[in-house]
Amino acid sequence: MSEPFTVLVMAAGRGTRMRSALPKVLHPVCGKPMVEWVIDAATDAGAARVVCVTRPGDGVAEGLPSTVTVAEQAEGEGTGAAVLAAREASGAVGTVVILSGDHPLVSADLISALVATHGTEGAAGTILTTDRLDPAGYGRVVRAADGSVERIVETKHTEGLDPAELAIAEINIGTYAFHAPDLFAALDEVGEERGERYLTAVFPRLSEKGRRVAALATDDVSSALGVNSRADLMKADGQAQQGLLEDHALNGVTFLAPSSTRVEARVVIGEDTTVWPGVTLRGDTIVGSGCELGPQATITDSTLRDRVTARHSFITEATVEDGATLGPFAYLRPGAHIGEGAKIGTFVEVKNSNIGANAKVPHLSYIGDADVGEDANIGAGNITANYDGRHKHRTTIGNGVRTGVDTSFVAPVRVGDGAYTGAGSVIAEDVPDGALGMARSRQTNVEGYAQRKEKPAK
Ligand code: UD1
Ligand code: MG
Repeated sequence: MSEPFTVLVMAAGRGTRMRSALPKVLHPVCGKPMVEWVIDAATDAGAARVVCVTRPGDGVAEGLPSTVTVAEQAEGEGTGAAVLAAREASGAVGTVVILSGDHPLVSADLISALVATHGTEGAAGTILTTDRLDPAGYGRVVRAADGSVERIVETKHTEGLDPAELAIAEINIGTYAFHAPDLFAALDEVGEERGERYLTAVFPRLSEKGRRVAALATDDVSSALGVNSRADLMKADGQAQQGLLEDHALNGVTFLAPSSTRVEARVVIGEDTTVWPGVTLRGDTIVGSGCELGPQATITDSTLRDRVTARHSFITEATVEDGATLGPFAYLRPGAHIGEGAKIGTFVEVKNSNIGANAKVPHLSYIGDADVGEDANIGAGNITANYDGRHKHRTTIGNGVRTGVDTSFVAPVRVGDGAYTGAGSVIAEDVPDGALGMARSRQTNVEGYAQRKEKPAK
C-alpha cells in the first residue's frame, strides 16, 4: 500500500485546437466526457481525494461527481496556472498526482505504478514518459547524465528549437507525482512564456535546488495519448471503443461485426448476447443475457432484460421484459414498457405505454399513452388517438382483447377484458368486457353502378 495521495485533474484549458464551442474536456469519448474518464481512473487508482481545475462558467464543474472538489482557475493561462489555482484545494501536503484532463485513457494501473515509483525513488517529482508516440506537439524529455529529468522542451511551437532536442523521442505524458511542498515552492518561481505559466518549468527549478526528478517510462500508448484536436479525439475514441468491446467479449458477448458496432462506456451487456452488424448501444443502456440485437438497432438509455430480440429497431428510454421481440422496424419511445414475451412488430411505434405479457402489436400501429393487457392482440394499423390538441389521454385495452384492423381508439377510452373491436372502427366509447365494439358506417352496394357510369351522357 502506498501513502494516500491527492489527484489534481487539470481541465481548465482553452482547448483552441479542438475548434469547438464545447470545452475540450467535455468532448465525449465513447459517450463519456474525457474529464470523467480521467476522474474514474483516479478513483480506481485509490486517490484519497480528487480535485478538478475548471474555468468559472465553462460548464465543466456542473457535470462532475459530487465527490470531486472543484478548484476554479479564475486567472492566468497554462498548466502551471492551473496547478496554482488548486493549491488550497489540494491541501499542498504529501503526494499530489497531477493528471491532464485531455488524456482520457490514462489507466488506473499506470497511476498506481507512478505513485509507487515516486515513493521508491524518493523524488521531489516523478513524470510519466513514453517513446511510443509521434512526439510532435508534446513536451520532449531532456535527461541528465544520471538519468534524472533535467527539463521538458515544449514543442507545440518548433521555431528556434535545437535540432538535437527535436530529435528526442521520449515525451512527457502530462501525468506527474510530486511532493506537494516542493511543487508549489518551485511553481511560485516560474514566470510566463508566451503568455502562459508552464507546469513543466518547475523541473529545472527542482534540479537547481538539488531535488531529484525521476521518470517512469511506459509502453501503454492508450494511456499516453493526449487529445488536442478532433483528429486525436478520433484516435482516443477508436482505442476506447476497441477496449470496451474486448471487455464485453471477455464477459461473454459475441460481436459479429465489431467494426460496425458502437457501444458507449456505461453500457452493460449480459452473457451469450449476440450483437449483429450496425448496432449502437448508448448512454445508460442495460442489456440482459441471451439477447439478439440487430442487424441494425439503435438503443439509448434503455433496459432490455434476458432473451430479447431487437432487429432493425430504434429504442429510446424503454424497458423490454424477458423474451420479448421487437421489429423489424419497431420504434420504442420514452416510457414504452414491453411485457414478457410480447411482440412489437413491423412499423410499430410505442410511446409511454405498457404492453402486457405475451401481447402482440404486429403491424403498422401507433400505441401512445396506453395500457394494453396480457395476451391482447392488436390488429394491423391500429392507432391510439391520444391527443385532443391540448391534452394527452390514456387508452386502456384489457387482457385478451382482439382488435380488428384499422381500429382507432379516441382516448380516454377503455376496452374491457376479452372484448373485440370490428375492423375499421373508431372506438370513442368504452367497450364492456367480452363485448364487440363496432363503430363504422354500414356498407351500401349500388347495384349496376359501373354499367350506368359507362353510358355516354346525352
Ligand atoms: C502539455 C505539456 C506537455 C505534454 C502534454 C501532454 C505543459 C506546458 N506542457 O502540453 O509537456 O507533453 O501536455 O499531453 O504542461 N489546462 C488547464 N489550464 C490551462 C491550460 C491547460 O487546466 O490554463 C489543462 C488542459 O485542460 C489540459 C491540460 O491542462 O487538460 C494540458 O493542457 P494543454 O494545453 O493541452 O497542454 P499541451 O500543449 O498538450
Ligand atoms: Mg494537451
